[in-house]
Amino acid sequence: MTTIKDVADLANVSIATVSRVLNSSAYVSPELEARVHQAIEQLGYRPNALARHLRRSENPTIGILIPDSKNPFFAEMAKGVEDVCFSQGFVAVLCDTDEQPSKAIGHLDLLYQQRAAGFTVVSPGQITPHLQQLLDDGYCIVVVDRALSSLETDSVVSDNYGGARQAVEHLLALGHSRIGFVVSNLEHETIQGRWAGAKDAMHCAGIEVDPDLVYTDGDELPGSGYEGAEFIFQHKKPPTAIFAFNDLMALGVLRYAQRHQIEVPKELSVVGFDDMMLASYSTPSLTTILQPKYELGQKAAKILLRRIRGDDSPVIQMTLPTKLVVRESTAPPLRT
Ligand code: RIB
Repeated sequence: MTTIKDVADLANVSIATVSRVLNSSAYVSPELEARVHQAIEQLGYRPNALARHLRRSENPTIGILIPDSKNPFFAEMAKGVEDVCFSQGFVAVLCDTDEQPSKAIGHLDLLYQQRAAGFTVVSPGQITPHLQQLLDDGYCIVVVDRALSSLETDSVVSDNYGGARQAVEHLLALGHSRIGFVVSNLEHETIQGRWAGAKDAMHCAGIEVDPDLVYTDGDELPGSGYEGAEFIFQHKKPPTAIFAFNDLMALGVLRYAQRHQIEVPKELSVVGFDDMMLASYSTPSLTTILQPKYELGQKAAKILLRRIRGDDSPVIQMTLPTKLVVRESTAPPLRT
């Protein structure tokens, strides 16, 4: 299939110039415009809308790119996408990228060759140029969960800043001041938002974050939560609370406490983030920040299918609210 890149290469112009000629969205010199039209003619390139329509009618398939299908957060979010796709006659293909940019690009290329109609993407990082190329090529892409601010496309994310701020304010309100943090990949805008919310809550309470109580090698999985607690408890004056930036890492913190006879919440309060289905079944049950996981997927899919059907309204950037869910893993500190 001829792509916008083929036209740009033949006309010896940028993809953006071809896009401007196709959409008459900005001035292009007559000489360049003539070269573009000649290349379109020669290659038999079809403009985006028709190509989009053909893709949809020939292959009503949506790619759902997620970083880790083992993580209940992504599973529930993907279900929201899949249910909407199924209800509207589209097949949804789950693509687990293992948090690897190379694997994400591999999935995108495969779906591109299969002429998928569009994608919902939770980015593993570093694939923005690839996504921009697909957008330039007329593909419909909705970014979910992990915002990609440099990409001009629809997105549906949670209020990460507000959720993390609520989590820390909850611990502060209980009387905690020595709070440890298990932080995951700060390359992701979700984690940047959480870290900013957490730090602002501490700052507003007049409490400095102790860098010895901050573990920044979290990888969203339970093992790194355990290692984070291990790192934090090396400190001569241990914390009375730990905020882990997702529930799976919070479970790792709970396991560390159990293995080291640290009573939760009596001696250590623990807060997570996501409110995955298992959070209410841990022992003790986990206080956490609810992310609207299914709704994130549902809303992203609805936007995506509207785009595939030709909706050219302005880009939508949606932020859904998060909410503190208090359970058994937090309580006032025994000692300050
Ligand atoms: O549990 C996986 C985490 O990474 C979630 O908090 C979600 O926001 C994803 O980005």
